[in-house]
This record gives sequence, structure tokens and C-alpha cells, in this order.
Amino acid sequence: MDNTIYKKRRINLSEQLPKNSALLIPGADIQYRNADSAYAFRQDSNFYYLSGFCEQESLIVILKGDDSCSSIVFVPPKDKLKEIWDGYRAGPIGAVEQYLFDKSYDNSEIEKLMPEILKGCEQVLYPIGKKNGFDQLVIDWTTDARSKDRHSKTINILDASSLIGNARLIKDDHEISLIRIACDISAEAHIEAMKNVKDADSEQDIESLYIHEFSKNGGRFQAYTPIVASGENACVLHYTENNKKFNKKDLLLVDAGCEYEMYASDITRTYPISGKFSKEQLEIYEIVLEAMNTAIDKVKVGNNIMEPQEISEKIITKGLVKLGLLEGDPEKLHKEGAFKDFYMHKIGHWLGLDVHDACDYMEGDEFMKYKPGMITTIEPGIYISSSMDVDDKWKGIGVRIEDDILVTKEGNENLTKKVPSKPDEIESLMS
Ligand code: GLY
Ligand code: MN
Ligand code: MN
Repeated sequence: MDNTIYKKRRINLSEQLPKNSALLIPGADIQYRNADSAYAFRQDSNFYYLSGFCEQESLIVILKGDDSCSSIVFVPPKDKLKEIWDGYRAGPIGAVEQYLFDKSYDNSEIEKLMPEILKGCEQVLYPIGKKNGFDQLVIDWTTDARSKDRHSKTINILDASSLIGNARLIKDDHEISLIRIACDISAEAHIEAMKNVKDADSEQDIESLYIHEFSKNGGRFQAYTPIVASGENACVLHYTENNKKFNKKDLLLVDAGCEYEMYASDITRTYPISGKFSKEQLEIYEIVLEAMNTAIDKVKVGNNIMEPQEISEKIITKGLVKLGLLEGDPEKLHKEGAFKDFYMHKIGHWLGLDVHDACDYMEGDEFMKYKPGMITTIEPGIYISSSMDVDDKWKGIGVRIEDDILVTKEGNENLTKKVPSKPDEIESLMS
């Protein structure tokens, strides 16, 4: 196990820290689904990014002095009995030897040692408001640290979310290779689902197919709860019931992506359960596809993240006017935001360790500009629920198409393009 990449990330980040500061990154705790039945443990993404270490109730402290920096980690102690029940623990010795921290302590010592460690610091940075109970702990430790020397300077507490988020925004080669694998596994699952949907009876049948395909190819966990939405359910943006019997005339919208070695993929395809789009389904689908392809072309170095957004809104507005779903001048309707009744979400988000990767979207007062190594989703949609005041023939059609786009020096690479998105390719795969 080569953990030097994580050590290098800690060193790189420490170079951006102010002098006499401490950066604190708490790890995740076990989460319970019911009584004492726990969910499979998932390490906090920031913690993992800086350590590669996957044990609960741990804490990283990166200390920046005048020029020097060092990193400490608190970890669960070695414990024979607990290891019989729950598995191997590296312990403080393993954390130094295998994970290359400068120092490590049992996590039972956090409360005692943190005020000592923070004594003399002028700034304490950590992701504020992200972990339950942690804000109060930091306040208690810094208050204690100050009380150890009444003549010392005030310790300022600062939010480190942007600092870490922006480090995570540009993916290194290691990260890109893992996201590529996650995308491939998810893409294959979508292809398999398209081939099999005609023989399926329900959303749940198809959800189980995705889970099986992900897991057997190495993506045991899903990057998010999948949306397997047939017909009108596609108009519920966060639909996760995934249990309705199919009406064979409906479209099926599936937004599903696996996690591979902690990295997310995020793909949506919408396809006809029967294997053949109806006239109205196809008309809506083609508008979304045009919005999608044109928006992807706007993902390139130097453009800002609102360019794909804006072009997708314009294409969708124009398409809706052409079909009679909106009336008026497309440019004026776009300015008025009339498309928002049909297309109410943003075009995409950063992708990485988190499916909605916790990185900023603005640099100062400006929208972020694309740089090589960023990965964004592009995911326009049109949703026409039956409560809308439109001709009945459109009701219950919901379409979203979503791909994962890596910004390169030359332009971009669509990491999920192997899943067909053109209607004729989808239909021929399904036949
Ligand atoms: N799957 C979550 C999203 O597309 O944002
Ligand atoms: Mn997405
Ligand atoms: Mn998605």
C-alpha cells in the first residue's frame, strides 16, 4: 500500500495554511440504520482525501509553524476484543508506519491533548458546520488552549471548507483513473439495463439489476440512492421509492452511479420501457439531447460554469416554444425564466469523492472558470407532470440525460459516453 499521495496532499495543503495555524479534519463516525444495526462505514471525503485511512472516530491535525509543518492523526486504539468483532485496526503505530503521519495517538486522548496541541496557534481552521457536535468541541479546545496562557493571542476559528474543497476540485491522475473506472462500471450497468428492461416488471426489478451489475464489477457501494422512475415518477426530481409496476408505454428515467474506491460516477439515461419512443416522448427527448450535447461543448478551459447552463436553458426554451408548450418569443421567455416550470434544476455539479463534490462554484464574485482536471456532470432535463396546464399528450413525460465530463487541456472528455444517448442507438440496443 503506497500512501505517499495522501502525505503529499497534506504537505501541499499545509503550504496554503497561515503561519501558526492548525487545520482539523474530523473523520466520520458509524451511522445506524436501526437499533444497533449500522450502515457500512463510509469515511468522510475530506478525511479520506488527506489520509486514505478508513477507520471511524479519527481526527487529522495539520500543524503549520513558521516554516515547518507536521501532521498528527488520532485513531481508534488497538483492541484485541474489538478487532475480533469488528476487524483489524492499524492503531497509532500503524497510522505512522502505513499512513505516514508524523505522530499518532489513541482517539481516547483527543480531549486531553487537543488544548495542548492548539496552545500557541493563532488560527484554527476546520470545515465549519459539517459534523454534528464538532463545532462545540473546537470551541471548547480553543477556549482551553487560551486559558493555558492568559497572555497569548486570541485563537481565531476559520472555515476551511473552501480551502479543502478547492484542493479537491482539480483531480490528480490517481483520482481520474478511479473516477474513470467508476464511470465505466456504471456505464456498463446502464447498457445492461437497456438490454433487459423489456423483460422487467417494475422499477425494483431494474434497481436490483443496477445494484448487481455495480457490485459484481467492483462498485459495491452506490454513489447515491438511485432514481429508478417510470412515467410520471420521473417528474419527482428526488424520486427514490423505486417500486412501481411498469406501464409498458412509459419512459424509464434511471439516475444511477456506483462508487469505486471512494470515487463517484453519476449517469442518467431515459429510455422507453417498450423499446420504442412514442412521437411525443421522442420530441421532448430530442430537445434535451440537443441541450446536453451543446452544453457539453461549452465545458472547456476558460469558459465559466454558467455557459453550459445558459445554453441549455435557451435550447430548452426554444424547443418548448416549437412544440407549443411555451408561447412567445424564445429570447424574452428565456429572460423571464419561463423554462423553469419544465427545467427547474441546474445543469450540473462537480463530481469526485462526493457525488455532489464539496467544492466551490464561485471564485470571489465571479463564477468559476473551467480548468484541466475538473470533472462536472452535465444533466439537462424536461419534466411535464400531469398537474401542469398542457395538452394531455405531454403529461407524464420526464426526461433527463446526464454524463460526467472531464475538462482537459484541449477541450473535454465525456467519461460516460459509452452509454448510448441517441434515440436510434438506444432503440437498436434494446431490440
Ligand atoms: N444523482 C444526483 C444528481 O444527478 O445530482
Ligand atoms: Mn448529477
Ligand atoms: Mn445523477
